[in-house]
Formats: sequence, structure tokens, C-alpha cells
Amino acid sequence: MDKIIIEGGKRLSGTIPVSGAKNAALTLLPCALLTDEPLTLRNLPRLADIDGFQHLMNQFGVSTTIAGSRPEDFGRVMTLAATRITNSVAPYELVRKMRASILVLGPMLARMGEATVSLPGGCAIGNRPIDLHLKALEAFGAHIELAAGYVKAIAPDGGLPGGRYSFPVVSVGATENALMAAVTARGKSTLHNAAREPEIVDLCNLLAAMGAEIEGIGTSDLTIHGVPRLHGATYRVMSDRIEAGSYACAAAITGGDVFLKHAVIEEMEATVQALRDAGVHVEPRPDGVQVAADGPLRAVTLSTAPYPGFATDMQAQLMALLCRAEGASVLTETIFENRYMHVPELNRMGAHIETSGRTAIVHGVPRLTGAEVMATDLRASMSLVIAGLAAEGETQVHRLYHLDRGYERLEEKLALLGAQIERLGGD
Ligand code: EPZ
Repeated sequence: MDKIIIEGGKRLSGTIPVSGAKNAALTLLPCALLTDEPLTLRNLPRLADIDGFQHLMNQFGVSTTIAGSRPEDFGRVMTLAATRITNSVAPYELVRKMRASILVLGPMLARMGEATVSLPGGCAIGNRPIDLHLKALEAFGAHIELAAGYVKAIAPDGGLPGGRYSFPVVSVGATENALMAAVTARGKSTLHNAAREPEIVDLCNLLAAMGAEIEGIGTSDLTIHGVPRLHGATYRVMSDRIEAGSYACAAAITGGDVFLKHAVIEEMEATVQALRDAGVHVEPRPDGVQVAADGPLRAVTLSTAPYPGFATDMQAQLMALLCRAEGASVLTETIFENRYMHVPELNRMGAHIETSGRTAIVHGVPRLTGAEVMATDLRASMSLVIAGLAAEGETQVHRLYHLDRGYERLEEKLALLGAQIERLGGD
């Protein structure tokens, strides 16, 4: 398996291009199921999860073509055509590798009147139930059956009537599935306490471009007026606010000065506030965000929360940065029950972090030391890279398949900024 070798201590400077957002792309791709006309998505990141989703769509009979792009380009253009759906089952062997496959449930149900998806199961950060997805679809008129590790959703004859659902817990995926099921329902649907992440706004904007009628975009109260059919569209995936925040932490921990090209500061305000509280300079620029750290880092206390709060997907990366702050930071992870697996590995690099339940106390240390470390999940692996960039000596990060799910050509991008980093295959 591949590993990344980092010689720490290099100050990062220069421009890094931010790619299209993984968590937007994974909900935009299944929208192709909602029409028999072509859907073209631009600025798609080159990521393992995107390749996995493309393969899943091919299983349904959806044709996918990648427009020519030069090897040095970041991002790709993909056209999907669900002219005819030949299969409405998402099988276990694909879903177990990529739990975001559950996002085909709503659109497939809307298109075919039924959908069968393997239950995604848990992952490293938590057991990741889908009960809210199913309750929302039932509220919109679907009949749900669970059997043999699969969930089957069935619409009444003539299609989903639509309905009203209020989420007891904010759920990004459940909001996305409900939206994609409701856009061609026979009547009106409303969602309350819906997720408001920028990726949800991106989904609503694509659906509207395809002819959907949605009110309240960007708020937690959404009204969807069902329309008989949607048409094709061409749409650019939003920039990845989590990738941008991750590289901001990488720049800051090295005392660097980096321009995050294509980053949109309005989509990452909670991250920007946390960085500024930590003593990092963050300034908006035309088509990007400038991040610089030229003085000591300060401790920060915060809790993760649904948007517009501090993103759980940024917790591990900020924690790595705070290992080098003066004083003790207190982080509370309120979204997932097991999202501190980067802590033991960071402590092996000389960090001093104590966890108790959902709370982590990060005691700043004067230095980190390079070590052989192991990635356990996507964002934890990025926190180890961030720590390795500042550590004295060499860091080796193993199990890179976690990293490759969410960070497009990471070592190439960091090398653009002067990092001494390389990827070695086959150990
Ligand atoms: C999305 O996951 C993201 N993934 C996650 O990013 C992100 O961490 C998460 O939203 C929160 O922002 C994608 O978009 C592909 P949720 P999702 O439903 O939709 C509970 C990354 O690193 N819940 O908002 O699965 C759940 O257990 C990944 O890029 C239920 O109880 O997250 C969690 O505690 C990791 N029942 C909370 O809600 C449900 O039916 C939020 O989960 C669904 C969720």
C-alpha cells in the first residue's frame, strides 16, 4: 500500500488550487437519475469516492463520459445520461465501500417508483444510522421495507404525493435524499430543521437549474413544489470548503503564507473565525482566501455544530494546528461519537492531547516530532499530514486510501507550496 513521506519544518508559501467539493459532488451525481436528459457536472474533483460513485451509476445503466482534460488540470467534466434505468438496486459490494451510495435512494425512488439500497452500515467515526432518511421518505408517502441488509423504498402508484417532515436532528444526507425525492412528487413537500450546509445549497441550485421549484434555499425550512419532470443541465460543483480549511491549517502550522485559490470565504466563516482566534491572519481576495501565520498560535475553545457552526469535518485538522498553540484548547465533537482516532497518532508525534467522551483538551507543545503513523479515517489522515508538515524530522503516513477519498493529488498540491513530501507505493 502507498505511504506519504514528509520532511517537516518547511514554511509553506505560494498558491494552492482548491478543488470541487467532494460532499457536494456526491449529492449532485445522483441527480442524473432524476431526468432522461444529460447532466454535465464541471469542476468534479479526481477522488476515489467520485470514481466509486461513477461506477455505481454505471450499474444502474447510466452512461458516464469524462471530457478530455489535461493531466495537469485539477478537476474534471463528467456528463451522465440516465436515458434508461436498467437496474434500481445498489448492491452491498459497492455500498460497503462508499456509504454515500445511500444518496441514490431518494432520486431512484422518484424516477423509478422504487429503489433498493444495501444498508450502508457504520464507519470508523460512528455507526451512521439512516433512520432520518427513511422517516423523511415515509413522510413524503414512500413505503419502506428492511430485509436481508437492504432497504427498499416504494412509491404509491402514480408517484410520491409529497408531505411534511421536521428533522429531530440536523442531517445533511437525509436532507439531500428528501430533497431529491420531493422535486418530482405530485404535490408540495416541506422540510423543517433541514441541513443548511453550502453543499445543500449547491444541490438546491442544481435541482432548480434542472427545473425544480424550491423555496427557502439556504435556510432550515425548505418548501418543494413537485413538478412533472426535470430536464438536463450543465453545472459547476462548488469549491471544497473543507479542503480549503485543511490547507489553511497546513499553511498556519508551518508559519506560512498561502493563497487558497477558488476558496469562498463566505462558506467557511466558522473555520475562518477559529483560525483568527488562534492568531492566524485570514483575508478574502478576488477568487480566493489568503492565510498567513507569522506569530505564536493561541489556544481556542469550540464545539462542532451543524452549519453555520464549526464543521465536524474540520475538527481533526484544527486539532493538529492547535497542538502547536500556546495554552490548552478545548474541543467538543457534538456530531459523531468516535471522531478522535487521530488523537493517539498525534500524541505519538509528541502532542499532548487528553480526551474524555466528546471533549478533547489539546495542551500546546513547543514541538512535534516526526513518526510513522497510520490513517484511520479521511479527516484524521489529513490531521496527521498537517502535523507532519510542522514536525521535526520525517513522518510517514500509512493507509493512504483514506486520504485519497477526499483530497485530490494532495502531495502535488503541497509540493507547490514548498513542502518536502512524496508518495511511495507498495510497502
Ligand atoms: C455528511 O455525512 C458528510 N458526508 C460528512 O462528511 C459530514 O461529516 C456530515 O455530513 C456532517 O456534516 C457527505 O456529505 C458525503 P449527517 P452524513 O446525516 O450526511 C446522525 C467527510 O469527512 N444521523 O449530517 O452521513 C449521524 O449519526 C464526511 O467528508 C442519524 O442519527 O451526516 C450524525 O450523528 C464524514 N440518523 C448526525 O446525524 C440519520 O438518518 C449528522 O449526520 C442520519 C444521521
